[in-house]
Amino acid sequence: MDKAKRKAIIAGNWKMNKTPKEATALLNEITPLVKDADCEVIACVPYVDLAAAIEATAGTNVKIGAENCHWAASGAFTGEISTGMLKEIGVEYVVLGHSERRQYFGETDETVNKRTKAALAAGLKPIVCVGELLWERECDITEEVIARQIKLDLWDVSEEELKNVVIAYEPVWAIGTGKTATADQAEEVCAFIRAQLAKLYNQDAADAVTIQYGGSMNDGNADELLSKTNVDGGLIGGASLVAEKFAAIVKAASK
Ligand code: 13P
Repeated sequence: MDKAKRKAIIAGNWKMNKTPKEATALLNEITPLVKDADCEVIACVPYVDLAAAIEATAGTNVKIGAENCHWAASGAFTGEISTGMLKEIGVEYVVLGHSERRQYFGETDETVNKRTKAALAAGLKPIVCVGELLWERECDITEEVIARQIKLDLWDVSEEELKNVVIAYEPVWAIGTGKTATADQAEEVCAFIRAQLAKLYNQDAADAVTIQYGGSMNDGNADELLSKTNVDGGLIGGASLVAEKFAAIVKAASK
């Protein structure tokens, strides 16, 4: 399958930024700028912004995602949010296993896997993040790290369910640092991810998965990164908070 047949997806990951009012204002700026996009456009926003974001994007081509979800349907999990809560208000996507959750909040491949399966069972589309630390790259174990994350995070996810999974390759050393992986580095690992998926499922299933790159992607480097065969989109942090920059990346993905 060639790249043109895969769905290009540009998703903003707002992280812990913007109040509900600010979210509405930013989305009101973004939606007219991306209305002709020839790719899927998503804004993943903090939980308290979700309702405002869904309202602000109603009737537009911008979809809304959450930044995490819990695996249990309900119960004694103070501070957590269930997939059912997200679905009921109209959330479509959910970022899972982001390196900031792994680094600062003890997220493990086991919990990423539980969340991924719960999201899929609820009809949410998970954006599963994988990526190596700088230290791991320097020790030349990037492929081992990625292979392990892909295998564990997608454990027990069926081929049918895989159709609703997006993978984001986010080298941890490139996040928020201004250090982007070169387009060749991004392509190398995204191609490796696809090869792992082909091993775990089959080539057709692997060829259909959208694999994003994330890590200091911006309006200046998006063109080159997105021109690569296995880079099907971007998961954007900082630049997704500036309407013109985010729109420029969407434009690059629409070519
Ligand atoms: P930056 O684009 O700010 O580097 O963040 C990338 C990221 O973590 C997206 O999930």
